[in-house]
Amino acid sequence: MTETAANDRPKKSREPAIRVMMMPRDTNALGTIFGGIILSHIDQAGAVEAHRHARNRLVTVAMREVEFHEPVFVGDLVSFYADTLRLGSSSITVKVVVEAERRTSGGQQVMVTQAEVVYVQVDQDNRPLPLTHNKTKATP
Ligand SMILES: CC(C)(COP(=O)(O)OP(=O)(O)OC[C@H]1O[C@@H](n2cnc3c(N)ncnc32)[C@H](O)[C@@H]1OP(=O)(O)O)[C@@H](O)C(=O)NCCC(=O)NCCS
Repeated sequence: MTETAANDRPKKSREPAIRVMMMPRDTNALGTIFGGIILSHIDQAGAVEAHRHARNRLVTVAMREVEFHEPVFVGDLVSFYADTLRLGSSSITVKVVVEAERRTSGGQQVMVTQAEVVYVQVDQDNRPLPLTHNKTKATP
């Protein structure tokens, strides 16, 4: 699957991997949503997508260049769209796009940030486990 193919899909017909309503407990000292909360949800959303390709444990090995373009506020409904970009030997690279709907101030939709997250399938000893291992274990 290529990045272009993923981006070509019509946005409105896509389901987010996860969708979260932001609460007062998620705020920083400025009263906006703490960036670390968004990073945590990006990791979760990417993992939901990555698990489509894995039957074993996944660990996050890298999260690439996250730049916040817009703030997120309490009451925003935040959607995390996730698409697989690359399948490696044991790694899965997922692109996560974050959009916030300003539910309490007119419903405007804004693009907050996007990130590439890399997951690695690992065995019980936390060593990389090839994705092909899943096929050999699959039941017919
Ligand atoms: C993930 C981990 C098992 C990889 O171990 P490693 O010794 O680097 O293994 P390898 O060099 O064989 O790489 C395995 C795969 O990870 C990928 N990888 C390793 N480091 C990477 C990085 N910084 N960025 C992107 N991919 C990376 C490799 O490209 C390889 O992919 P492939 O199998 O598809 O070709 C190890 O780094 C680890 O346990 N990290 C901690 C993960 C973790 O605990 N995350 C949660 C943090 S709270």
